[in-house]
Amino acid sequence: LFAGPVDFLKGVVHMDGLPPADRPEVCFAGRSNVGKSSLINALTGRKGIARASNTPGRTQEINYFTLGERSYLVDLPGYGFARAPVAVVARWQALLKSYLAGRPTLRRAFCLIDSRHGVKPVDHEIMTLLDRSAVPFQVVLTKADKLGPNAIRPVLEQVEAELQKHPAAFPELVVTSSEGGQGIATLRAIIAGLD
Ligand code: GTP
Ligand code: MG
Repeated sequence: LFAGPVDFLKGVVHMDGLPPADRPEVCFAGRSNVGKSSLINALTGRKGIARASNTPGRTQEINYFTLGERSYLVDLPGYGFARAPVAVVARWQALLKSYLAGRPTLRRAFCLIDSRHGVKPVDHEIMTLLDRSAVPFQVVLTKADKLGPNAIRPVLEQVEAELQKHPAAFPELVVTSSEGGQGIATLRAIIAGLD
């Protein structure tokens, strides 16, 4: 899927605002602040194409990016705590769930987990939703630069144990740092290998 230049296409706030389902796409899901937008910037080499910030709840729409003519990258709002009004958060959480459960051209969902925190109940809930909709998903650990190489081991074990519970999960996890570049080329190659 990784062919051609990346461009911002549109931000979507309703299911009927999604672009036509006419090409494959991958999305980045995860708790608020886990590093979804930063990962898109790192993957595309376009710092700032997806807006990242330290405020949980930064991304409030489903943001579509084109990769050449062939595919889409999709940045999702986070789930869990967000610094935004309750009614607004409820609306975008509903949108997020509808999207994850009902997008026919979604080839793979990347579920981002903070390397320091491991899988939380809300991550389990989203993974269960993906199982039920038969959306293949793969876990990406983020912010690996914040941990020493030994500190990550128990988190890897916890995540691997969690993945056993999910039929839609790929067993292979990718450890990344958008800041340091760890795992970015690997993830890019995984996306490029999808069709
Ligand atoms: P929402 O849109 O609010 O759901 O957040 P998000 O998941 O898109 O996170 P975002 O990319 O905005 O990053 C949140 C914060 O984490 C920002 O301050 C980033 O600079 C920081 N961050 C993201 N990735 C990394 C990383 O690999 N290493 C470090 N050290 N910080 C990171
Ligand atoms: Mg974001």
